[in-house]
Amino acid sequence: MSKPIYVLNGPNLNLLGTREPEIYGKATLDDVRALCEARAQSLGRSVVFRQSNHEGQLIDWVQEARTEASALVINPAGYGHTSIALLDALKAVDIPVVECHLSNPAAREAFRHHTYVSLAAAGLVSGFGAKSYELAIEAAAGLSA
Ligand code: DQA
Repeated sequence: MSKPIYVLNGPNLNLLGTREPEIYGKATLDDVRALCEARAQSLGRSVVFRQSNHEGQLIDWVQEARTEASALVINPAGYGHTSIALLDALKAVDIPVVECHLSNPAAREAFRHHTYVSLAAAGLVSGFGAKSYELAIEAAAGLSA
């Protein structure tokens, strides 16, 4: 059995469903978790799904993923645009990293166009709402055993 795919979620994603639903959709984080679990299961894989509003907590989980995960899907939310520390943690993992966003940051405000996380990611899925996560799980599963 493969190690799980870690799915890490950054700040404010705990508010999904009520937070700017016209941008992020009506699915709650629990709905997204269920989608990820189902997609992973259909691929014979499992997920560890977590969310934190705290940069250091996310970094601790990225470090944990180095030994405990087969691949890492991360929606860094706002920290993607700001956190060199998160990038450094991601650069220290040898497993595939897939960056994931509900919205399409490239089509939004200029300050969202750059993400540090992309520098450490094999690829990026964005703009498809909760479906972005399913596609990211598929990509992560395809890149890892
Ligand atoms: C987001 C996009 C980010 O720009 C934003 O800060 C978020 C959510 C997304 O999933 O679309 O919090 O990562």
